[in-house]
Amino acid sequence: MTNSEAILKIAGGHDAGLPMLAEILSDETIDEELFDAANSVKMQSFGSEVFVRAIIEFSNYCVKSCSYCGINAGCGIERYRIEPDELVRIGIETGKIYKTVILQSGEDPYYTAEMLAGIVRGIKLETEAAVTLSVGERSLDEYRIMREAGADRFLIKHETSDEGLYRQLHGQGLLSRLDCQRHIKELGFELGGGFMVGLPGQTNETLAGDLLLLKKMQVDMAGIGPYICHPDTALLGCVDGDAQKTLKVLALARLLLPNCHLPSTTALNVKGGMKDALFCGADVIMQKATPIKYRRLYDIYPGRDAEDIPLGEQYEKLKRTLLGFGLHAK
Ligand code: 5AD
Repeated sequence: MTNSEAILKIAGGHDAGLPMLAEILSDETIDEELFDAANSVKMQSFGSEVFVRAIIEFSNYCVKSCSYCGINAGCGIERYRIEPDELVRIGIETGKIYKTVILQSGEDPYYTAEMLAGIVRGIKLETEAAVTLSVGERSLDEYRIMREAGADRFLIKHETSDEGLYRQLHGQGLLSRLDCQRHIKELGFELGGGFMVGLPGQTNETLAGDLLLLKKMQVDMAGIGPYICHPDTALLGCVDGDAQKTLKVLALARLLLPNCHLPSTTALNVKGGMKDALFCGADVIMQKATPIKYRRLYDIYPGRDAEDIPLGEQYEKLKRTLLGFGLHAK
C-alpha cells in the first residue's frame, strides 16, 4: 500500500498501526494529501465552526521540575498567584465573553481542591461558560471535589509516550500521569490530553505511539504543539520542534480521532501555524485571558501569541480573522 492509499484508508475509519503512522510522518511528499484529507474529516465533524476558548494562567508557582518548562520549580523567576476572589472576578468577566474558561497554573498546592472547587462554583454561578481546569496531577479524591463543583473539563497531557524519554524529562514515570487521565475520565470530565512534537530524542515512531496513546486514553480533546526551547531550562540549546511536522501530526490525529477537539495550540500559534492548523484538522483556538501584568511571567516557552488588548476587543478581532479565512467563531 502506498502512503496516499494509507491516508485514505485511515480517513475512511480503518485502524492504523504504529509502523503505518510512522511511515506517513517520514514521507515528505504527501503533506498536501494528508492535510486535505484531515480538513475533509474536520469539515464533516465540525463544519466551518471554530470553538474559541479563553485561558487564564492564574499561578506560575510549580512544584515539578519538567526539564522543558520555563516555570519549573528550579527556574529563578518572579512568581505570582491570583487570589481566589480575584480569580472568580476575572473568570466571570472572561466567561461573559467566551463560552469556555480554562483555568491553568503550574502544579501549585497553595490552591487546595476545595479552593479550586469554590472558584469553579463562583464562575458557574454568574456565567454560562464551561469551566476547564489545567492544574496538574492530583489525587482521585481531589479531582472528584473539582468535578462535583461543576468543572466540565480537565487538561492534562501525556507529553510523550516514550517511557524512557518521559522519565528523563520529568524525573518520574509516565504511569502516574496516565492514572490521572483515567481518573479524570472515570469522574465524567471531558479529558484533554496531548503531547509535544520535536522533543529531543523523539522519533517518528515515538510520535506514532503518541497518537495511538491519545486513542487508547479516549481523549475528548488533544493539544499537540511544537516543543519550543526555553534558554533558562536544562534543555537549553535544544532545537525547537518543527511547525510543519506538528501540522502533520495534528492532521493524523484528526484522521484517527474524527470527533475529538483539536486546538491550534498556543505554541503552534507562536510559530505562525494557526491558519494552517485550522485547515488541517484543528477546530479550536485558545486565546489568552490572563491579566496583562502577569502574561510575561507565565513564561513556559519563549515567544508571544497575544496582543495586550482588552478581552472583548481581542475576541472581536479573532472573529474577524476567522471570517477572513471563511470560518466562524462559535
Ligand atoms: N515548549 C512547548 N510546549 C511546552 N509546554 C511546556 N513547556 C513547553 C515548551 N518548552 C506545554 C506542555 C504543557 C503545556 C501547558 O505547555 O505540553 O502541558
